[in-house]
Parts: sequence; structure tokens; C-alpha cells
Amino acid sequence: MLRKSVLPLAVAVLLCAIGPARIQGQRGPQAQAQLPDGNGKEMVQNTCSQCHALSLVTNAGYSREEWHTVFSAMVDLSKDQSAVVAEYLGKNFPEKPKPPAVVIPGSVTVSIKE
Ligand code: HEC
Repeated sequence: MLRKSVLPLAVAVLLCAIGPARIQGQRGPQAQAQLPDGNGKEMVQNTCSQCHALSLVTNAGYSREEWHTVFSAMVDLSKDQSAVVAEYLGKNFPEKPKPPAVVIPGSVTVSIKE
């Protein structure tokens, strides 16, 4: 009786131990996203990686003004600092053009029933 109930418990403990280690491994390379050189790089590297991976920053694209709005909701930088960071981000990670629509060849039949 005792033997039977201990096995699932041992498996559960083992999974708990492996789980977080795997998640850590996945975050590793992400957190080291490369930032282009420039005025403001260090500030972005130090402040913006405190809560999330830098890839979240490098994958985004905004205008200078929009960047200011986006990160002002997360960090409280001085006026001078936020001007530098907004300039840096707007220059290096500008608004991305919308991807062009893809037209799939072939005929499509749509029927709408009410
Ligand atoms: C106090 C914590 C904190 C700091 C510091 C921080 N962020 Fe964030 N940020 C968040 C959270 C929370 C999210 C949402 C997380 C998610 O979606 O995984 C987020 C998401 C983002 C996103 C994706 C969402 C969007 O609106 O596009 C961008 C871009 C971003 N942060 C940029 C920055 C930049 C740039 C900095 C540094 C100037 C920064 N963050 C610093 C907490 C923070």
C-alpha cells in the first residue's frame, strides 16, 4: 500500500525539479538579444532587461513618440534619460511597415447562413 502511493509522489517531485530548469534554459538566449551600438544602449540594456527579455524590446517597432508612451508605462526615467532612450529606440527599432496582404490563388466559396 505504502509503496504504491509513494511512486506518483516521487514522479511529481522529479517533474517539479526539472520544470523550472527547462524554462530557465529557454529564456537564456532570449535575454541576451543584441542591441545595436548607440547613445542610450546601456540604459536600455540595464533598465529594460529588469522585467523581461530584451527580445521583447528588439522585436517591437514604434515611432519615437510611441516608444516614449510604451516604456513610460513601465519605467520611471528622468526627462533627459527618457529622451535619450526614446531617440535610441525610435532610431533602431522604428515602426514596422505592415506586411503586405497575401493573395491566395484559387476560388473561394463563402456561404453565410442565418
Ligand atoms: C517594471 C518592469 C518593466 C520594466 C523595467 C520594463 N518593462 Fe517592458 N514590459 C513589462 C511588462 C510586465 C510587459 C508585458 C510582459 C509580457 O507581455 O510578457 C512589458 C512589455 C514590453 C513590450 C511589449 C509590449 C508592447 O507594448 O509592445 C515592450 C516593447 C517593452 N516592454 C519595452 C520596454 C522598454 C523599452 C523598457 C526600458 C525602457 C522596458 N520595457 C522596461 C514590464 C517592464
